[in-house]
Amino acid sequence: MPPSNISGKAYHEATKHSYLSVQLDPNYVDAATQPSAFKVYPQFYRRVKLNLNNKIHSFIWLTSAVTFSKVYKNVPYKLRVNPSAGALYPTEVYVQIRGMAEIVDGIYHLEVENNCLTLIYELIDDGLESYIIPGRSIKGFIFLISSVYYRSSWKYKDRSLRYCLLDSGHHLGAVAASAYLNQLDIQLIFDFDKLALNTDLGFENKEFISACAVSGEIQEKQVRRLRLKLPFVCGTDYFVANQFIEDSYQTTACQTSRKQQLQQPQFNFEPDKFYQTVWDRRSVRRFRKESILQEQYLYILQLLKQPIPTETFEPVEIYSVVHRVEGMTSGLYQGVNLVKAGNFSDKTGYLCVNQALARDCAAILFFVSEYTSYQTAMQIAGFLGHRIYLGSNYIGIQCSGIGAFYDDETQEFLETNKDVLYAMVIGI
Ligand SMILES: Cc1cc2nc3c(=O)[nH]c(=O)nc-3n(C[C@H](O)[C@H](O)[C@H](O)COP(=O)(O)O)c2cc1C
Repeated sequence: MPPSNISGKAYHEATKHSYLSVQLDPNYVDAATQPSAFKVYPQFYRRVKLNLNNKIHSFIWLTSAVTFSKVYKNVPYKLRVNPSAGALYPTEVYVQIRGMAEIVDGIYHLEVENNCLTLIYELIDDGLESYIIPGRSIKGFIFLISSVYYRSSWKYKDRSLRYCLLDSGHHLGAVAASAYLNQLDIQLIFDFDKLALNTDLGFENKEFISACAVSGEIQEKQVRRLRLKLPFVCGTDYFVANQFIEDSYQTTACQTSRKQQLQQPQFNFEPDKFYQTVWDRRSVRRFRKESILQEQYLYILQLLKQPIPTETFEPVEIYSVVHRVEGMTSGLYQGVNLVKAGNFSDKTGYLCVNQALARDCAAILFFVSEYTSYQTAMQIAGFLGHRIYLGSNYIGIQCSGIGAFYDDETQEFLETNKDVLYAMVIGI
């Protein structure tokens, strides 16, 4: 198939898991060969050390902070505010800051490992706006989320583009949570000139932009494209190309999303408790198979109904399989409507590649979509997934993303023709 024919749907189809595909290729890797998960620009770039007592610094820090370190099978892991499939963290964050006191106008790379902002480009009459919202200028912040895809393709091969996009959606969710804590509105932007930005930011074929989040005052003003191209800096210590992923990214980068009116969500989280939730968010490793309350389950569903702050979007529908929710009939639901009653714990455990989490949870939510832009749909699924993480942990229940499932069999079980993009388990 020539690259131009690889649409989102074809990419999704080509990377479906089945019982057989997982048996034939179980994704075993030698942990000692894992590529580095932190990008660091050369030392000559100026750096600003982040300080949690500074409001702007803490806003940016909290979008990506390392919150827990552990060693598992002799491999050190630094877990962060954002979850990541396999804890591989392909996503990077860049932020353009313009017109803010005491910070040079420029494009900064967020160096997560060392809690600093690296100034990689000083602005004059140019900037990121011309690629994202031509004819306007932002006094404030433009966040770009990119993926260093080899960190994920090292393990997940062709399917890793799915995880890069879901992780990117989660990262946008982390940006939104930090903005909420700083009483700032953000707007997510999915359709823009990603390919030109990849070139001008010097990413070569090794890193690619997936989305943008803007926060600040929008002014009518022409801003030039970047007057200089940035040098290439590799986000891993070594690299193996995957042509299929590169082609699939390129073609799906140009797909146009559906349009909607911009609307901000209205949450009433208690700020100190929500702040602590953001720092303490974790994926559950094992459920005790206890029931959750119906009001806890409904609370999570309500959070998903809140608007997503973007003019470009894809509709994502939720199917949930209730196993252990007090006062509710177990079975498959579409929204609040019961589609079929029954105890499907073993079934969903099997469908999610025999993962106990999907069997022992109180409920599992499947996100399905019929999209025009694959990249947008997957990132919206990740963004909603992040809401579920924070909402669950906020009310004292546990949660995890589930990216591995037998695609066709899951569709069959849900009785849908739409692609299954992601699943989330909640419970105790
Ligand atoms: C897109 C995505 C897919 C994931 N898939 C699975 C999965 O299939 N099984 C699982 O046990 N955990 C899964 N996780 C959870 C990650 O393993 C977890 O986020 C990572 O180990 C970091 O831990 P933390 O979330 O506690 O910070 C997934 C997370 C994401 C974001």
